[in-house]
Amino acid sequence: MKIEIITLFPSFFDGIFDHSILKRAVDAGALEVTIHNLRDYTTDKHHQADDYRFGGGAGMLLKPEPLFRLFEKIIKDIKPRPTVIYPTPQGVPFNQDIADELSRERHLVFLCGHYKGIDQRVIERWVDREYSIGDYVLTGGEIASVVMIDAAVRMIPGVLGDIDSARGDSFRDDLLDCSHYTRPEIIEGFGVPGVLLSGHHKNIELWRRSTAMFLTRQRRSDILEKSKDR
Ligand code: 6GU
Repeated sequence: MKIEIITLFPSFFDGIFDHSILKRAVDAGALEVTIHNLRDYTTDKHHQADDYRFGGGAGMLLKPEPLFRLFEKIIKDIKPRPTVIYPTPQGVPFNQDIADELSRERHLVFLCGHYKGIDQRVIERWVDREYSIGDYVLTGGEIASVVMIDAAVRMIPGVLGDIDSARGDSFRDDLLDCSHYTRPEIIEGFGVPGVLLSGHHKNIELWRRSTAMFLTRQRRSDILEKSKDR
Protein backbone atom coordinates (compact mmCIF):
# COMPACT_ATOMS: atom_id res chain seq x y z
CA MET A 1 0.00 0.00 0.00
CA LYS A 2 1.19 3.49 -0.84
CA ILE A 3 0.38 6.32 1.57
CA GLU A 4 0.93 10.03 1.01
CA ILE A 5 0.69 12.36 3.99
CA ILE A 6 0.16 16.08 3.48
CA THR A 7 1.22 18.17 6.49
CA LEU A 8 2.62 21.49 7.69
CA PHE A 9 4.71 19.54 10.23
CA PRO A 10 6.69 16.86 8.36
CA SER A 11 9.02 16.23 11.31
CA PHE A 12 6.04 15.00 13.34
CA PHE A 13 6.35 11.76 11.36
CA ASP A 14 10.10 11.25 12.06
CA GLY A 15 10.47 7.79 13.48
CA ILE A 16 6.76 6.98 13.46
CA PHE A 17 7.17 4.27 10.84
CA ASP A 18 10.47 2.97 12.27
CA HIS A 19 9.07 0.65 14.93
CA SER A 20 7.44 -2.69 15.40
CA ILE A 21 4.71 -3.68 12.99
CA LEU A 22 4.69 -0.51 10.89
CA LYS A 23 8.45 -0.89 10.40
CA ARG A 24 7.99 -4.53 9.42
CA ALA A 25 5.35 -3.50 6.89
CA VAL A 26 7.74 -0.93 5.39
CA ASP A 27 10.68 -3.36 5.36
CA ALA A 28 8.56 -6.07 3.73
CA GLY A 29 7.49 -3.65 0.99
CA ALA A 30 3.84 -3.81 2.07
CA LEU A 31 3.86 -0.11 2.98
CA GLU A 32 5.47 2.90 1.35
CA VAL A 33 4.95 6.28 3.01
CA THR A 34 5.74 9.67 1.45
CA ILE A 35 5.48 12.89 3.47
CA HIS A 36 4.60 16.11 1.61
CA ASN A 37 5.37 19.47 3.20
CA LEU A 38 2.44 21.76 2.38
CA ARG A 39 4.67 24.80 2.85
CA ASP A 40 6.69 23.74 -0.22
CA TYR A 41 3.61 24.49 -2.31
CA THR A 42 3.18 28.10 -1.18
CA THR A 43 4.36 30.75 -3.64
CA ASP A 44 4.51 33.94 -1.56
CA LYS A 45 7.62 35.32 0.10
CA HIS A 46 6.52 34.33 3.61
CA HIS A 47 5.42 30.83 2.63
CA GLN A 48 2.07 31.45 4.21
CA ALA A 49 -0.13 28.35 4.29
CA ASP A 50 -3.03 29.70 6.38
CA ASP A 51 -5.36 32.67 6.32
CA TYR A 52 -8.30 34.29 8.12
CA ARG A 53 -11.82 33.04 7.60
CA PHE A 54 -14.34 34.93 5.48
CA GLY A 55 -17.08 36.04 7.83
CA GLY A 56 -14.65 36.66 10.66
CA GLY A 57 -13.95 34.88 13.92
CA ALA A 58 -10.88 33.53 15.64
CA GLY A 59 -8.90 30.71 14.08
CA MET A 60 -7.10 30.36 10.79
CA LEU A 61 -7.76 28.05 7.84
CA LEU A 62 -5.36 26.26 5.53
CA LYS A 63 -5.41 28.25 2.29
CA PRO A 64 -6.75 26.47 -0.78
CA GLU A 65 -4.10 27.41 -3.39
CA PRO A 66 -1.14 25.38 -1.98
CA LEU A 67 -3.43 22.39 -1.53
CA PHE A 68 -4.86 22.61 -5.05
CA ARG A 69 -1.29 22.90 -6.37
CA LEU A 70 -0.11 19.92 -4.32
CA PHE A 71 -3.04 17.69 -5.30
CA GLU A 72 -2.62 18.59 -8.97
CA LYS A 73 1.00 17.49 -8.68
CA ILE A 74 0.72 14.35 -6.58
CA ILE A 75 -2.52 12.67 -7.55
CA LYS A 76 -4.10 14.13 -10.63
CA ASP A 77 -2.29 11.85 -13.03
CA ILE A 78 -2.34 8.70 -10.91
CA LYS A 79 -4.69 5.96 -12.11
CA PRO A 80 -6.64 4.56 -10.41
CA ARG A 81 -7.10 7.71 -8.39
CA PRO A 82 -5.89 7.39 -4.76
CA THR A 83 -8.49 7.73 -2.01
CA VAL A 84 -8.11 11.04 -0.19
CA ILE A 85 -8.91 11.05 3.52
CA TYR A 86 -9.37 14.18 5.60
CA PRO A 87 -9.23 13.55 9.38
CA THR A 88 -11.61 15.96 11.09
CA PRO A 89 -13.82 16.07 14.20
CA GLN A 90 -16.69 16.67 11.72
CA GLY A 91 -16.03 13.32 10.03
CA VAL A 92 -17.88 10.01 10.11
CA PRO A 93 -16.74 7.98 13.18
CA PHE A 94 -13.73 5.83 12.26
CA ASN A 95 -14.04 2.18 13.33
CA GLN A 96 -12.67 -1.32 12.70
CA ASP A 97 -14.87 -1.91 9.65
CA ILE A 98 -13.46 1.25 8.04
CA ALA A 99 -9.90 0.18 8.98
CA ASP A 100 -10.52 -3.17 7.22
CA GLU A 101 -11.87 -1.36 4.17
CA LEU A 102 -8.87 0.99 4.00
CA SER A 103 -6.46 -1.96 4.34
CA ARG A 104 -7.71 -3.18 0.94
CA GLU A 105 -6.91 0.11 -0.84
CA ARG A 106 -3.81 0.41 -3.03
CA HIS A 107 -3.13 4.09 -2.47
CA LEU A 108 -4.27 6.48 0.26
CA VAL A 109 -3.69 10.19 0.84
CA PHE A 110 -4.08 11.71 4.31
CA LEU A 111 -4.59 15.46 4.46
CA CYS A 112 -3.68 16.84 7.88
CA GLY A 113 -5.57 20.01 8.72
CA HIS A 114 -4.74 22.53 11.43
CA TYR A 115 -6.27 25.48 13.22
CA LYS A 116 -9.92 25.76 12.13
CA GLY A 117 -9.38 23.23 9.34
CA ILE A 118 -9.22 23.72 5.59
CA ASP A 119 -11.11 25.70 2.98
CA GLN A 120 -14.31 23.81 2.11
CA ARG A 121 -13.57 23.94 -1.63
CA VAL A 122 -10.53 21.71 -1.10
CA ILE A 123 -12.85 19.16 0.48
CA GLU A 124 -15.33 19.40 -2.38
CA ARG A 125 -12.69 19.11 -5.09
CA TRP A 126 -10.24 16.57 -3.64
CA VAL A 127 -11.43 14.80 -0.50
CA ASP A 128 -13.20 11.43 -0.75
CA ARG A 129 -13.78 10.62 2.92
CA GLU A 130 -13.85 12.55 6.20
CA TYR A 131 -13.27 10.55 9.40
CA SER A 132 -13.18 11.44 13.10
CA ILE A 133 -11.33 9.24 15.59
CA GLY A 134 -13.47 10.23 18.57
CA ASP A 135 -15.56 12.88 20.27
CA TYR A 136 -12.79 15.25 21.30
CA VAL A 137 -10.74 17.86 19.50
CA LEU A 138 -7.08 17.37 18.58
CA THR A 139 -4.68 20.14 17.60
CA GLY A 140 -4.29 18.75 14.09
CA GLY A 141 -4.86 15.82 11.79
CA GLU A 142 -1.37 14.27 12.21
CA ILE A 143 -2.12 12.13 15.25
CA ALA A 144 -5.50 11.07 13.86
CA SER A 145 -3.83 10.10 10.56
CA VAL A 146 -1.30 7.91 12.35
CA VAL A 147 -4.11 6.24 14.30
CA MET A 148 -5.99 5.40 11.11
CA ILE A 149 -2.85 4.31 9.24
CA ASP A 150 -1.84 1.99 12.08
CA ALA A 151 -5.32 0.45 12.27
CA ALA A 152 -5.44 -0.09 8.49
CA VAL A 153 -1.88 -1.30 7.89
CA ARG A 154 -2.04 -4.04 10.54
CA MET A 155 -4.99 -5.51 8.62
CA ILE A 156 -3.03 -5.86 5.35
CA PRO A 157 -2.59 -9.62 4.84
CA GLY A 158 0.90 -10.74 5.93
CA VAL A 159 1.67 -7.67 8.04
CA LEU A 160 0.76 -9.28 11.36
CA GLY A 161 2.79 -12.45 11.86
CA ASP A 162 -0.07 -14.54 13.17
CA ILE A 163 -3.35 -13.89 11.39
CA ASP A 164 -5.25 -15.24 14.38
CA SER A 165 -3.93 -12.42 16.51
CA ALA A 166 -5.97 -10.00 14.38
CA ARG A 167 -8.95 -12.31 14.23
CA GLY A 168 -9.26 -12.44 18.03
CA ASP A 169 -9.01 -8.66 18.54
CA SER A 170 -11.49 -6.42 20.22
CA PHE A 171 -14.33 -5.48 17.83
CA ARG A 172 -13.74 -8.49 15.60
CA ASP A 173 -17.09 -10.02 16.63
CA ASP A 174 -18.57 -6.81 18.00
CA LEU A 175 -17.06 -7.69 21.39
CA LEU A 176 -14.20 -6.29 23.44
CA ASP A 177 -11.28 -8.65 23.85
CA CYS A 178 -11.07 -10.83 27.00
CA SER A 179 -8.23 -10.63 29.56
CA HIS A 180 -4.94 -12.42 28.90
CA TYR A 181 -2.21 -13.84 31.15
CA THR A 182 1.34 -15.10 30.67
CA ARG A 183 3.95 -16.61 33.01
CA PRO A 184 4.46 -16.65 35.99
CA GLU A 185 1.32 -18.28 37.39
CA ILE A 186 1.51 -16.12 40.51
CA ILE A 187 3.01 -12.64 40.90
CA GLU A 188 2.92 -10.88 44.28
CA GLY A 189 -0.08 -12.97 45.26
CA PHE A 190 -2.01 -12.32 42.02
CA GLY A 191 -2.98 -15.60 40.34
CA VAL A 192 -4.33 -16.67 36.95
CA PRO A 193 -7.93 -17.92 36.40
CA GLY A 194 -7.67 -21.69 36.90
CA VAL A 195 -9.52 -22.59 33.71
CA LEU A 196 -6.68 -21.10 31.61
CA LEU A 197 -4.27 -23.60 33.22
CA SER A 198 -6.63 -26.56 32.80
CA GLY A 199 -5.73 -27.47 29.22
CA HIS A 200 -9.47 -27.90 28.57
CA HIS A 201 -9.82 -26.00 25.28
CA LYS A 202 -13.59 -25.91 25.16
CA ASN A 203 -13.84 -24.49 28.68
CA ILE A 204 -11.10 -21.96 27.93
CA GLU A 205 -13.03 -20.80 24.85
CA LEU A 206 -16.23 -20.51 26.94
CA TRP A 207 -14.42 -18.52 29.64
CA ARG A 208 -12.92 -16.15 27.08
CA ARG A 209 -16.24 -15.62 25.37
CA SER A 210 -18.15 -14.99 28.61
CA THR A 211 -15.57 -12.57 30.05
CA ALA A 212 -15.56 -10.71 26.72
CA MET A 213 -19.38 -10.53 26.86
CA PHE A 214 -19.30 -9.34 30.47
CA LEU A 215 -16.75 -6.61 29.75
CA THR A 216 -18.59 -5.46 26.65
CA ARG A 217 -21.93 -5.26 28.47
CA GLN A 218 -20.33 -3.39 31.35
CA ARG A 219 -18.30 -0.87 29.34
CA ARG A 220 -19.65 -0.72 25.79
CA SER A 221 -23.34 -1.61 25.69
CA ASP A 222 -23.48 0.60 22.56
CA ILE A 223 -21.52 -2.07 20.65
CA LEU A 224 -23.97 -4.82 21.66
CA GLU A 225 -26.94 -2.68 20.59
CA LYS A 226 -25.29 -2.03 17.23
CA SER A 227 -24.60 -5.73 16.57
CA LYS A 228 -28.23 -6.61 17.34
CA ASP A 229 -29.31 -4.32 14.51
CA ARG A 230 -27.10 -6.07 11.93
CL1 6GU B 1 -9.69 13.08 12.80
N1 6GU B 1 -8.87 15.41 13.71
C1 6GU B 1 -8.80 16.36 14.66
N2 6GU B 1 -8.09 17.47 14.42
N3 6GU B 1 -9.41 16.27 15.82
C2 6GU B 1 -10.11 15.15 16.01
C3 6GU B 1 -10.22 14.14 15.08
C4 6GU B 1 -9.57 14.30 13.93
N4 6GU B 1 -10.98 13.15 15.56
C5 6GU B 1 -11.34 13.57 16.76
N5 6GU B 1 -10.83 14.75 17.05
